[in-house]
Amino acid sequence: MTQPTSLDTDRAHLMHPLHHPSSYKSARVWVSGEGALIKDATGREYIDGLSGLWNVNIGHGRHELGEAARKQMGTLAFHSAYAGGSNEPAIALAERLSGLVYPSINTFFFTSGGAEASETSFKTARFYWKARGKADKFKVISRRRAYHGLTLAAMSATGLSAFWPMFEPRTPGFLHIDAPDPYRFKSADPNVSVGVAAANQLEEAILREGPDTVAAFIAEPVQGAGGVIVPPPDYFSRIREICSKHDVLLIADEVITGFGRTGRWFGLERYGIEPDIMQFAKGITSGYIPLGGIGVSDAIREVINGVPPGQRWMHAYTYSGHPTCCAVALANIDILERERLTERAATAGDRLLRGLRGLESMDGVGNVRGLGLMAAVEIVSDKTTRQQFPPEAGLTQKLTEAMLDRGLYTRVVMDCICLAPPLVTTDAQIDRIVNMVGETIPAVLAAHVEHR
Ligand SMILES: Cc1ncc(COP(=O)(O)O)c(C=O)c1O
Repeated sequence: MTQPTSLDTDRAHLMHPLHHPSSYKSARVWVSGEGALIKDATGREYIDGLSGLWNVNIGHGRHELGEAARKQMGTLAFHSAYAGGSNEPAIALAERLSGLVYPSINTFFFTSGGAEASETSFKTARFYWKARGKADKFKVISRRRAYHGLTLAAMSATGLSAFWPMFEPRTPGFLHIDAPDPYRFKSADPNVSVGVAAANQLEEAILREGPDTVAAFIAEPVQGAGGVIVPPPDYFSRIREICSKHDVLLIADEVITGFGRTGRWFGLERYGIEPDIMQFAKGITSGYIPLGGIGVSDAIREVINGVPPGQRWMHAYTYSGHPTCCAVALANIDILERERLTERAATAGDRLLRGLRGLESMDGVGNVRGLGLMAAVEIVSDKTTRQQFPPEAGLTQKLTEAMLDRGLYTRVVMDCICLAPPLVTTDAQIDRIVNMVGETIPAVLAAHVEHR
């Protein structure tokens, strides 16, 4: 592939998330998109197998969102939403969300993205317990293979250890339990299901730390960046029970699972429970403009509203309730509703998972899993022992590049090929994704064997 010359300028001036010059080999300059397709600067078209970064839920090229931004910018692009001021799009969005999310959550704070949503959740959990006279409840428990964002506390809650070493020390008071991964987590007791055994780790951690020191447990309904880990059906009901029993707030990180991705509006609907705090970003605007935030239960709102003015929730953010971003979110939700894209995620997701399950008998395919329109194919060197390839095999990079060569953009994490295409992806495009993944795996593994 001939790379566009603008990549030279990129190299000279731009630092990227996960920056390292070795990644330039397969760099593309993305120039346009339409539905589930994206085009690079050489004019080549690809299926966007990850909806950008799990966020372009309504697909690319929807002019309605640009129009909503233009209209709001022409009226009032920005003004402060600090207490004492407000704006119509933020009010309308908060009201709209209270009708969409869990029944006990009706109050919202807006940020610009997911990491700030994580910070807001952690600080709100601490605030809540302090306001209730329990200042020692400050610790946060999360899971290994979780991703919660790049800020220091969010990074400390993140359970993907590759994100830590060059930025440590981490924020004190953050600890991790195992991910409820049905492929890799084993219950020690044959009478206890995998879901309950994985959830019981939370109770063990709370008791070990002391319930009076633990503020919250944070969990993605389906762990996305950690390799699409779908918990067993009985996991979250046990988690809810443990959190309620020990007075630990349950924070649902719905940054990926929100706004239709799992085939429901929000991921925990799949598990029949409600969190105390939920956080969102990405799909709320389908990535067209940055926006995130949290929703808190009525009980938490009452505590926040009940403190004296001198103890107010001193959580300040210039872009909270940004009118333009909120106007775009409203237009995005209009499209999700009008086009019934949540239902589309469920049916297209079933088709994707069925197709990928057809690859399970292939050499190297250890596990195929998914929920709604998020799925993963985990590659292993030995299907019996479930052993992964050593990092020096460089499978992640090879799989990513081989899929790009075939016209599929996506991300591979820890040898799990992650797939989360836009909710508007057609059946024919879903089938092409499956075919491209099915061609890539044997080709990459054969080349690997040859070069050993
Ligand atoms: C579950 C989850 N939480 C938080 C974040 C952080 O969001 P952002 O990158 O918008 O800060 C992400 C990003 O991928 C995420 O997947």
